[in-house]
Amino acid sequence: MKNFKNKEELSAHIGVLKANGSTIGFVPTMGALHQGHLSLVNSGLLENDLVVVSIFVNPTQFDNKEDLVKYPRTLEADMSLLSTVNSDRIIVYAPSADDIYGDHIASETFTFEGLEHEMEGAFRKGHFDGVGTIVKRLLEIVAPHRAYFGEKDFQQLQIIRKLVELHHIPVEIIGCPIHRAADGLAMSSRNARLSLDHRIAAPFIYETLKAAKVKFGTKSATTVTEWVNSQFKNQPLLELEYFIIADIATLKPVKRKSTKKSYRAFIATYAGDIRLIDNIALN
Ligand code: PAJ
Repeated sequence: MKNFKNKEELSAHIGVLKANGSTIGFVPTMGALHQGHLSLVNSGLLENDLVVVSIFVNPTQFDNKEDLVKYPRTLEADMSLLSTVNSDRIIVYAPSADDIYGDHIASETFTFEGLEHEMEGAFRKGHFDGVGTIVKRLLEIVAPHRAYFGEKDFQQLQIIRKLVELHHIPVEIIGCPIHRAADGLAMSSRNARLSLDHRIAAPFIYETLKAAKVKFGTKSATTVTEWVNSQFKNQPLLELEYFIIADIATLKPVKRKSTKKSYRAFIATYAGDIRLIDNIALN
């Protein structure tokens, strides 16, 4: 498995591969890799000759300094996990902040036609400027044919689609389904930081999403939202930050249901000081 730390060397290597006719898939990550990440890598391996996996804890997308400091960094374990998949066809790019940002660690400012103001954008100030900055730079460095993002971060996926459209970046963006633990909890690098009690309580998030989906078949978004809020009042270990049923195109909360539109329910909760997000397709 080839491993690069330097963007010029990586770009030169990929340039040679592309000149020889190889297709390149790209999976950007912040490391602490789990089966959810690997499902993206496997999709990339099915559709491309080679897959580049970037591992970089991007400082500009963290609105909470403590979350950045405590974010798990497990490069050696990540490398050995990737080497079990298909090491001949995987290229790792694990840069330093300096290689990406030089001595100026700061975000550019983006607009994504309003997608950036909803949900995660409202609760994590500056988050999507940081995501836009890093993903745009990584796409320029790697210049892949296809890039893979998880529906786990559905708002991020829609924002990346908009980034690519607005900035005319020549890449196909592919959304991949949410990978869950056996008890339904969406896999996340942050799950490793949950206390045992919080880990036991956390599957309640997906249970509630599934029940909300059933209710949305016959009830209004307002009724379902009130029901979810009341469910979380009985859950002392999980603090609901938001539950929103939104149109997947605009990410704006649904006012009146239309059979012509697609909706998803989005949730953010705190389990102690760990913030967990999840979502589910409703129709
Ligand atoms: P990270 O949280 O490491 O996630 C990397 C990719 O894996 C994202 O596209 C995310 O949606 C996907 N992913 C995470 N958990 C998943 C799961 N349980 N099922 C399916 N896909 C899952 O998202 C980021 O990093 C960063 O914002 C990044 C895009 C790398 C920019 O820094």
